[in-house]
Amino acid sequence: MDRSSGPFFCLMRHILVVHHSASGGTRQLVTAFCERASNAGSVDVVTRSASVASVADVRNADALIIATPENFGYMAGSTKAFFDRVFYACMADTTALGGGTQSVLAGRPYSVLVCAGNDGTGAMQSVDRIVTGWRMRKLHPGVIARRVGGEAGSGRGVLREEDLNACRELGQLLAEGLAMGAL
Ligand SMILES: Cc1cc2nc3c(=O)[nH]c(=O)nc-3n(C[C@H](O)[C@H](O)[C@H](O)COP(=O)(O)O)c2cc1C
Repeated sequence: MDRSSGPFFCLMRHILVVHHSASGGTRQLVTAFCERASNAGSVDVVTRSASVASVADVRNADALIIATPENFGYMAGSTKAFFDRVFYACMADTTALGGGTQSVLAGRPYSVLVCAGNDGTGAMQSVDRIVTGWRMRKLHPGVIARRVGGEAGSGRGVLREEDLNACRELGQLLAEGLAMGAL
């Protein structure tokens, strides 16, 4: 039977959140995102540490959120290791002889949550550059949350409520868009 056939068929949509957090800031962003994303009916939010997120997790996701700290002007090493592990397994051969590849994720929506000390743009751009290779669609510019009140580059300081709210709103936007079939 076709996945979408039958009168009582309810298609569950999946949001995958791949995250890494060493000192808890990114974890707070993910928690805020999930608060509202989990409220939409028929949308399942799956959170996976970057160290364990699998190819199957990514292939099954209707939408992807990457949540990462910025380290040395780039995404965290664990986030990069996740991409190293799964990137080519999400590409399919376009010819029997393996003459070309195309992304199995093309067109699916994604966005990015970055926790940073004083910048964050390097992490955001580095994730975008890789996910562009999957031909995914950036649904939302993403959130860069910079800690306030700690010395630059440290894990000290707090996150602004407005940044946590931006994560909540992104969760709601993505989940409702998927639930109503708009994404
Ligand atoms: C090794 C290291 C490198 C960092 N490099 C940067 C950086 O390049 N730019 C920045 O804004 N913050 C930098 N930070 C600060 C972290 O991004 C910040 O502490 C963030 O809250 C970490 O996320 P987490 O709390 O989820 O671990 C760095 C922190 C560490 C430990």
